[in-house]
Amino acid sequence: MKKSIIKSTGMFVPPNIITNHDLEKIIDTSDEWIQQRTGIEQRYWIDQDGATGASDLGFEASKIALKAADWTAQDIDFIIFATLSPDIMFPGSGCLLQAKLGLDSTPALDIRQQCTGFLYGLATADAYIKSGLANKILLVGGEVHSSGLDKTTRGRDITVIFGDGAGAVCIEGVETDEQAGVLSSALHADGNLAEALMTELPASRLPLRVPEGVPTDDARYYPVMDGPLIFKKALRMLPKVINESLEKAHISLDEIDLIIPHQANIRINQALGQFLKLDDNKVFHNIQKYGNTTAASIPMALHEAMEQNRIGASGDVVLFTGLGAGLTWGSVIYKFL
Ligand code: UT7
Repeated sequence: MKKSIIKSTGMFVPPNIITNHDLEKIIDTSDEWIQQRTGIEQRYWIDQDGATGASDLGFEASKIALKAADWTAQDIDFIIFATLSPDIMFPGSGCLLQAKLGLDSTPALDIRQQCTGFLYGLATADAYIKSGLANKILLVGGEVHSSGLDKTTRGRDITVIFGDGAGAVCIEGVETDEQAGVLSSALHADGNLAEALMTELPASRLPLRVPEGVPTDDARYYPVMDGPLIFKKALRMLPKVINESLEKAHISLDEIDLIIPHQANIRINQALGQFLKLDDNKVFHNIQKYGNTTAASIPMALHEAMEQNRIGASGDVVLFTGLGAGLTWGSVIYKFL
């Protein structure tokens, strides 16, 4: 039977490092508050003078992943692009990336599942491979948050968190009897809590999606979040969905070599590790360097975990998990071939 195997990874962040001290200069915040409450020390933002979209960051990450897989762009038979910050309203960033790769007919699918975009994307790639619809898939998570943040004290709870970046993986269907590849996935959503984390405007449900008389710096043009609610939800739902994915894969938590959670807040991931009674080195963190890059955070973390040899040897098992806007949450278990 075909198994969905990660052949390679790539990641890219734009060149501008924004430290917590840089943010202190524009909003009422402090390095101490940000580090204590989130673990973040710095993040990367695009050059505010140029035009860089999620597909541009995704393109750079894709080139690295393609080279590592020894694939050319022509080898790809399906592109999945996960983002909440598409380059433009439409068409999707997957189409824009496809053109940048020099392709003109390869199918491209955008996934708008925010922090769990990579999890939904990995489960989708696995389903496409197992059903025979595709065999060589480029899965990308890419975000440009910095051009849409409220860089005033009003938006400080969110603005200090988000960073720009992209991660890419090449996934191939491989015929093998080994227990390998995507072992299970568990995905969920609760749209009743959409307002807990959202950007409301522009809105196609309004007679004028850019409403008249609303100033362009209105808070509704920026992301708003009920941080404490999301924090509590994450700690309640992630252990449940992790167990669900373990049960589906018929393996125990002891058999997981590394958990790579979405990088939303180091306190969430440390508390999750404590709740699951895991050694500290079993949960991967890189939020300190990148902040929360939403759909890019898990593939970027996977890339770094593999570079650091924390995971990736034949037989290693990694569990990806996360919760975010939607709300959406999920867990995917992957075993290296
Ligand atoms: O990836 C998408 C999913 N998102 C998440 O998983 C995020 C989950 N939530 C969180 O990570 C946390 O809730 C935050 C980091 C966003 C906020 O941390 P918190 O410990 O929950 O703080 P809070 O919102 O309860 O605010 C505590 C205080 C408030 O002041 P008062 O009312 O106590 O005087 C805020 O105004 O901290 C204040 N505050 C800040 N102070 C300095 C909020 N943001 C900042 C800031 N700098 N950047």
